[in-house]
This record gives sequence, C-alpha cells and structure tokens, in this order.
Amino acid sequence: MNTGSQTPLLAMRGIVKSFGGAQALRGVDFDLESGEIHALLGENGAGKSTLMNVLSGVIAPDQGEIRIDGAAVRFTDPRAAQAAGVATIFQELDLVPSLDVTANLFLGRELTRAGVLDGGAMRRAARARLDEIGFDVDVDQPVGELSVGRRQIVAIAKALTYASRILVMDEPTAALTAAEVQRLFHVMREIARRGVGIVYISHRLEEVPRVADRVTVLRDGRIAGTAPPTAPQSDLVALLVGRPLTELYPRRSGAFGRRVLNLERAAWRPRRPRAGWRAPREVSLDVRAGEVVGLAGLMGAGRTELLSVLYGAGGPGAWSGRVEVEERPARLTSIPEARRAGVAFVSDDRRGAGLMLRDSVERNLVASVLRRVSPFFLMSQVRQARLARQAIKAFDVRPPRPELAVGALSGGNQQKVALAKEVLGEPRLLLLDEPTRGVDVGAKGEIYARIRELAAQGVGILVASSEMPELIGLCDRIIVLRGGRTVAEFPAGAAEDDILAVAESSQDDSDE
Ligand SMILES: Nc1ncnc2c1ncn2[C@@H]1O[C@H](COP(=O)(O)OP(=O)(O)OP(=O)(O)O)[C@@H](O)[C@H]1O
Ligand SMILES: [Mg+2]
Repeated sequence: MNTGSQTPLLAMRGIVKSFGGAQALRGVDFDLESGEIHALLGENGAGKSTLMNVLSGVIAPDQGEIRIDGAAVRFTDPRAAQAAGVATIFQELDLVPSLDVTANLFLGRELTRAGVLDGGAMRRAARARLDEIGFDVDVDQPVGELSVGRRQIVAIAKALTYASRILVMDEPTAALTAAEVQRLFHVMREIARRGVGIVYISHRLEEVPRVADRVTVLRDGRIAGTAPPTAPQSDLVALLVGRPLTELYPRRSGAFGRRVLNLERAAWRPRRPRAGWRAPREVSLDVRAGEVVGLAGLMGAGRTELLSVLYGAGGPGAWSGRVEVEERPARLTSIPEARRAGVAFVSDDRRGAGLMLRDSVERNLVASVLRRVSPFFLMSQVRQARLARQAIKAFDVRPPRPELAVGALSGGNQQKVALAKEVLGEPRLLLLDEPTRGVDVGAKGEIYARIRELAAQGVGILVASSEMPELIGLCDRIIVLRGGRTVAEFPAGAAEDDILAVAESSQDDSDE
C-alpha cells in the first residue's frame, strides 16, 4: 500500500449532492490508496451509494472534484468510468435478467471472430473467469432465474474484469453465506495485491477487521470519522449512529399458540424443472402462533425456494405430503390462494418481486391492505394516508415522506418499506427471506423488535437468513435445510458452529 505524502490513487474533495431539497452529501472528502481496501460505513441513507455513484459517473455532483493519480476526472456515465479502470458492483445489481450469465459478463465488449460474435469463446472465458474466483455458476442460465446470491457473484465477476484501478463494492456480501464471503475476501485481497484500490461498503460490521485496511464512516452526508479496522465494533457503531444503541435482539416470549404452519414430508414437484432451482423435496417443520422459526442453510439449500413455494409463487406444480395452515389442509398453489390462507411473503429480491419502485411509498404500503380487503374496496385517501404514516413511523423509514417514489429511497430504507407493506396485510403466517439485507445496525434492531411484536400478536414467522448470528439471536428455533430437505433442528441460542456443521455436511446434490 502506498502511504505518506504520495498522491493518492483516488481523491474526492468537497463532494456535494442534493436531491430536491434533501442534501445527500454535504461536502465529503474521500481518499483511496493503490492496493488498499477502504471500508465505507454508514447508516441507511447516510450517502454511501450516492458518493460512489458520483465516482462512477451515475450521477453528477453539484460541487466538488475527483482526482485519480492527481488528474481531475469527471465520468459522465459508468461506461466512461469502466474505460478508465473504475468498476462498480452496484447495490442494486445492474445485470440484464433476460440475458444469460455469459452475455451479461460480456455485455458491450462481446468477443468476435471475423466480425461475428464468438459465442463459444465467450462461454469458455465466462466459465474460466468464474472458476478463477472459485464460484460455481451455470454460464448458460438467464440471470433472472438465478438466486440473488448467484446474481451477486455474476456482478462481482463482471466488475472484476474492468477493475484495473479502482473497484467499488456496494454491499457485495448482502446475500452471500459465510463460506462465500470468505472466498470473496480472498479474491479481494488478490486484486488489491495487484495494486487495485477497493472501496468496500457493508452493513456487516464483523467483516471490517477481516478485510479492510482503513475505515471511514459517513453520517448524514458528512464524514463522521475514520478508524483503524481493528477498532472495537462498539466504537464503529458509536461513529455510525452517533448515539448509544440498545440491545440488538429483543427478548423471546416462549408463549406459543396453535400451529399456523405444519409441513410433514412436504414436497413440491414443479411441472417444469428449472436448473439451479432447488424444489422442496422432503420438508417437515411447524411454526406456531407467536413463534419465530429460522431457516438456515447454504446457498442452494433451497431456503428461498421453500418460502416462495409456500407463498404459491413456485409456478405450476403440485404438493405432496401434508401441508396445513392454521391446522387445516391448505392448497398454496397460487399467490391468491396463499394470501387467502393468511400467508404473506417478503422476498429477498425487493426489486424483482417486492416493490413498485416508481410508485410512492404510500401506494406501496397500502397495496397489501387493499388486496386483503377486496380488489374493489375503496379506502378513503385519508385512511390510506394515515396507515402509511403509521407504517413509516413504526419501521422508521427515512426520510419519512409518503409521497416519495420508493426508488428514491436508500437500499436499506426500501427494505423497511417492503417489510412494512406485508405487515399491514395482517398475515397469520409471515415468510421472510433475508429481512435485514442491506439494513444498518440501528435499523436492524428496530426490525427485530417489529418481528417480535408481530409474533406477540399471534403471527407465526418463518425467516430465512444467511447471517447466522441473526438467526441465533432472533429465533425461537432454527431448522437447517440442505438439498431441499429439513435435516436438523436447533433450539434458541444454539452454537453457530454446530448449525454450520450440519448445513455444510456433504449435500446430496442429485436432482432425484
Ligand atoms: N434519486 C434520488 N432521489 C431522491 N433522493 C435520493 C435519490 N437517491 C438517493 N436519495 C437520498 O439520498 C440519501 C442518501 O442515500 P444513499 O442511497 O446514498 O444512502 P446509503 O448510505 O447508500 O444507504 P443504504 O445503506 O440504505 O444503501 C437518502 O436520504 C436517499 O433517500
Ligand atoms: Mg446504499
């Protein structure tokens, strides 16, 4: 790493950016050295993505300057930045869902032979690139059919090919499991060793000492401070939120009611099998009213598939085995059926399934209420506005403006809206897939508290997460899924290593 008086690889000075009346960046200075991994931390809405969008040419700053190797630059779009060796893995990945993995990796720089696209060469190169970073992804599959975690890996592989000087990673690990994160860190260190500077954004504070050389914290559009990566997590939290935090995980109640979900040897047979989509094969579990049950497993274990099939969103297919909601047989073969049975789902893919980004926060929030009552039900504007305001307050959506388009919120605040929206539908069984993905430490605690409150009201909650501490801290029980099968169950407070050992033990990967 270069240090001292040398010109830094990247110097951002006095960056100011406002959206309408709201100041997202209020004069930010940020440096990056060659070969350095610089962690950029901050609460949801602090301005992290905005600062990096200014660097990569997605948005133009109102004021300020950017220098690379001492020379002033201003990129007018991400392609210009890429051409200069500045690559970004955006928080909301910029992949084309309808194109396959190979096409996404080579988009805009396709390989040709004698003027014709060379599909074979691109597929081989795509495979080689993914092999090189040690991830197994089918290069022929449309990106839209991949899990969020695999999409993240494709975006990482793509960015790596452009990143000759600077690599910006905006929450690249949000959907990755512990083992994949470890592999990614290894790849990052390799790249840094070649002299590339890396900006690393994450809400997982425990990752910081493992990967970063330096830490900068943004708060409300200003630099709140810098810290060595070895700083205790409590110091980082204090810098981040600027106030002491209360207990992260709420108390468990232990008082459970009847079974809102009961699965016995349940299996889902899709009419058309999809590559890389792990249908539930043998699932036995129950969730009681008032209980929060965790679903653990590696990427590809079938957690997201199980939740989406329970929500009737598995496409055409049929259940076998016993499937009961509220102790009555339930069909759950379509979303309307699942919703009528009282099932709600917050997807890990908030852009794809959860939210209407162009619509206002209020419209998004009341959508599930309107759907619950009846498609023809008219709710007064006043009532809608009141509901929306209450939900915004309960989930601490920032800024608290119901008229704002959801797409204009920071990633973590979009996640809060996605959750609040389903809660308003008053479900009996709430399925949550990565409920705190992209959410800052302070807001995480708030979300856990809301989940516990719901449970206390008698809702049964089944939550999948790739963050093991979250499952352990939040859940009353943890069920491990492997290869589409439930393989073990752990009580509250079980040890992470014990759960991981079961999750990681050799998977039976045969597709029956
Ligand atoms: N296009 C936009 N229009 C209006 N406001 C915006 C827009 N983009 C960002 N903002 C606002 O700018 C502020 C900073 O947002 P930014 O996305 O940079 O936060 P962040 O630090 O990346 O948060 P997160 O951790 O949630 O991703 C937020 O208040 C956000 O609502
Ligand atoms: Mg962001």
